Amino acid sequence: MIEFITMEMIDEAVDAVRRRTTIEPKVGMILGSGLGGLAEELERKEAFPTNDLPYWPVSTVEGHAGRFIFGELENQSVMVMQGRAHYYEGYSMPQLGLPVRVMHRLGVEILIVTNAAGAVNPEFNPGDLMCLVDHINLVGMTGLSPLRGPNLDEFGLRFPDMGKAYDRDLIAIVREVATEEGFILREGVYICLAGPSFETPADLRFLRGIGVDAVGMSTVPEVTVARHSGMRVVGISGISNKANLDGETITTHKEVLEAGKIIVPKLIKIIKGVLKHL
Ligand code: HPA
Repeated sequence: MIEFITMEMIDEAVDAVRRRTTIEPKVGMILGSGLGGLAEELERKEAFPTNDLPYWPVSTVEGHAGRFIFGELENQSVMVMQGRAHYYEGYSMPQLGLPVRVMHRLGVEILIVTNAAGAVNPEFNPGDLMCLVDHINLVGMTGLSPLRGPNLDEFGLRFPDMGKAYDRDLIAIVREVATEEGFILREGVYICLAGPSFETPADLRFLRGIGVDAVGMSTVPEVTVARHSGMRVVGISGISNKANLDGETITTHKEVLEAGKIIVPKLIKIIKGVLKHL
């Protein structure tokens, strides 16, 4: 396991990407479980697999293609990471941060992160989109931070502020686009758990008690790394399932992928709308 990521490793990965494309994106996107379809929308696409990039955390999960797609969307140069790796796959947190480090070095200033999440807020339903207004870094609090180890001063401070993890102006744009498009946009607090087991009913009561609206197994490490280097972040959860509070329903990955089909068209509208407003 790669415990820490160094500048040299990041530079090597950046060089490997630059050998495959000359596009210089200002916006980066990470697509969560079942949400990869969004990449179809790009024009003048240049796509390549990420699995042969040095030190790369390669995704092993169904629904995560493991590709970079560079191209244009709404006249903006963008790069899309179709499929991400997760802590439960066996990577260290710093290694999970590598893709965001690489995006930053390639010139990305705005990061749009998406994920599939379970509804903890009882008002939320499968198929809903939730704009992240904040997150709880429970896994980070217990010591598993992507920033653990020697600080990369070239990117940011040893003790980065996380007061506005999600950019307020970009949240306002997401809200506006949802209103224009005429669908309900949820807003709330996301929590990243380590997984891969889903939550017990007692876990879920605990999460609700500490102010969680949606639960997943990603995003927070990437956002922590993005904020370390001052990138502006938008986070969108696609709600794939209700919390299994009574222990009577069964949460499955299949359900998560199925919900993606309803979520992707809405997500496309939101992301295109945000890009248009930039
Ligand atoms: N729990 C954790 N992660 C998830 C869920 C869930 O219910 N749904 C999609 N990702």
